[in-house]
Amino acid sequence: MSMASALWDWYAALGYDALNALLPYAALQEAVLTALAPAPGERLFIAGCGTGNLEARALGRVDGLEIDALDFSATMLARARAKCAGYPSARHHRGDLCQRLPFADAAFDAAVMCNVLYALPDRQAALAEISRLVRPGGRFTLCDRQPVSDPEQVTRAHFTMLRALPGRERLRGWGRTLGALPPLLAVAAINRRIQRRMESGAYYFYPIEEITSLLDTLGFTVTRVEPAYAEQCWLLQARRRAEER
Ligand SMILES: C[S@@+](CC[C@H](N)C(=O)[O-])C[C@H]1O[C@@H](n2cnc3c(N)ncnc32)[C@H](O)[C@@H]1O
Repeated sequence: MSMASALWDWYAALGYDALNALLPYAALQEAVLTALAPAPGERLFIAGCGTGNLEARALGRVDGLEIDALDFSATMLARARAKCAGYPSARHHRGDLCQRLPFADAAFDAAVMCNVLYALPDRQAALAEISRLVRPGGRFTLCDRQPVSDPEQVTRAHFTMLRALPGRERLRGWGRTLGALPPLLAVAAINRRIQRRMESGAYYFYPIEEITSLLDTLGFTVTRVEPAYAEQCWLLQARRRAEER
């Protein structure tokens, strides 16, 4: 596990959280949370939680959520645990999404996986495992990279969104952008490495038709698809059918 997670450990250490200064990343987290639509008291599974940005956002807004979040990078997890320290109902686990996970069948009302699927060596096994974990009628929110993308588009979208902010907020946004510049350069370098892994076939960016059909075979009905992250991703909502356990 440690070899495979090395890139992600580096990503966390070099500045993954600098992404929070990028307005398209903040908008993506917001869009994922809106799609997930957690209700008070629900139990959620966050697959590949990274530094915990989504669970921190959800816990701050919705009462009584039970969250199990899992990642294989110890460095990402350390940040996620620190971010959610005030919430005992958030549990962070270290594990590999391509293996059987330590949760009962149908244990969760909803699951979410954001920008993780492309990096998994056994994507089908990971999705089948999520299908096992989501209760009949439960939801799955999945976001991943478009097969053809232009990472520069995120930077362009950031500055367009920044210019559109009202006065004080725009000033704060510029301050955050300048403060995050050194780690964002490291983020850009790691993103180039991810792109090279895609070109070499180690990572795979699903076309939307292919992922929709795969989810269907795994017992999910896709109910909505929209572009996200400055059009670099697709964001999909699905519902677990009851009949195929
Ligand atoms: C691009 S980050 C996304 C993090 C978070 N979902 C977000 O949107 O900010 C990808 C995450 O997937 C995790 N990951 C990649 N392969 C994994 C695997 N086989 N098992 C568990 N986690 C994995 C990485 O450690 C990393 O935290």
